[in-house]
Amino acid sequence: MRNTVLFAFIGLGIGVVTGCFFINDTTSEFSVRLYHRLQAAGDQDNIIFSPLSVAVALGMVELGARGASLEEIRQAVGFSHLLPGVEFSLLQNLTAALSDDDTHYIIRFANSLFLQEGVTFNPEFLHLMRKYFRADVETVDFSESAAVAEQINSWVENHTESKIRELLSAEDFSSVTRLTLVNAVYFRGSWKNQFRPENTRTFSFSRDDGSEVQTLMMYQQGDFYYGEFSDGSQEAGGVYQVLEMPYEGEDMSMLIVLPRQEVPLASLEPIIKAPLLEEWANNVKRQKVEVYLPRFKVEQKIDLRSTLQELGIKNIFTNDADLSAMTDGKDLYIGKAVQKAYLEVTEEGAEGAVGSGMIALTRTLVLYPQVMADHPFFFVIRNRRTGSILFMGRVMTPEVIEPNDHDFDSM
Ligand SMILES: *[C@@H]1O[C@H](CO)[C@@H](O)[C@H](O)[C@H]1NC(C)=O
Ligand SMILES: *[C@@H]1O[C@H](CO)[C@@H](O)[C@H](O)[C@H]1NC(C)=O
Repeated sequence: MRNTVLFAFIGLGIGVVTGCFFINDTTSEFSVRLYHRLQAAGDQDNIIFSPLSVAVALGMVELGARGASLEEIRQAVGFSHLLPGVEFSLLQNLTAALSDDDTHYIIRFANSLFLQEGVTFNPEFLHLMRKYFRADVETVDFSESAAVAEQINSWVENHTESKIRELLSAEDFSSVTRLTLVNAVYFRGSWKNQFRPENTRTFSFSRDDGSEVQTLMMYQQGDFYYGEFSDGSQEAGGVYQVLEMPYEGEDMSMLIVLPRQEVPLASLEPIIKAPLLEEWANNVKRQKVEVYLPRFKVEQKIDLRSTLQELGIKNIFTNDADLSAMTDGKDLYIGKAVQKAYLEVTEEGAEGAVGSGMIALTRTLVLYPQVMADHPFFFVIRNRRTGSILFMGRVMTPEVIEPNDHDFDSM
């Protein structure tokens, strides 16, 4: 089973930080608030974003910020309980913890700062950018907007195995643009228990508006982490299922949260809170489960400027912005903040991945809990050691990928 996630972020930074070996409630709180904002704006759309990536990007901005610009980021993201500056070390450690297991999965954080030619940046700021974020720094002439867009897009493409193209266009820049922060995350892992392509077949997926779409449903019986939860209220739709599927190496996993068939995801979403994420992760139990999961991709481009403003990060987008730790100039502010994320879930293992441990399909008896994701679900991809949330989102309509290379009539 291959699972590819890509994320590119431009223009702005946010900080989400989690404690090194425990989920940090304050930052997962920020992730959940971000989700609820996107949910409110998103109607029946799929959602995918990377809280950790937003955190890293905001951290980069915070490094150059002072006064209210800095305080708003610390407050909103959940850094304010840390001693000033400790968040940078934390972000560095969290990204390092994610990058150190190339035998099981690939995660690449690629941070870059594009500066206007002729603007003098504080050498200490540049030094710290490289130290904490390993950020490339390049000088461009934003008045050459088409060339700049091409350069940045090519950089993003290079860091996302060409999954994210054309992130920006010439219209995104002008002669007053001084600074663009780009943050791309690429993730590619394979499930610890992979799916057999021959078990995939066409299936109806029921959307929350009652319509149905044909999707490719993968199937397996395997050992996963599983639990049934309820907050006791009918508003949340009663009992719902949580399935945790680890990637190879077991450091990373995907949590799938599925309401009962007749309950729309919208009934469950309001109860999603940071402590609940922790409760799910801590209470799922290892056991054999029958899993039906669509083969899907999700992608989304988000205007973070408005979203972050709603979460209290306003100052850096205005003329009052104080980014004076970056440069002596007082006219620096962030005009654009865009994030694009992409997730692909298929049966195939990542290159070099060893697929095995499959259990033969038996349809005669249902002996184990069955997770049938044939209706909308919520998901989180996280680091099980640090609690960092790499991706969060929901699938309202599974967009099918390449429905050409498998034989779905074989069963
Ligand atoms: C990051 O890791 C370094 C080296 O292990 C450690 O000294 C430092 O305290 C860590 N920082 C945080 C904020 O956990
Ligand atoms: C992208 O990669 C290609 C091939 O490795 C290289 O020629 C090009 O300079 C790279 N572009 C950027 C912007 O890094």
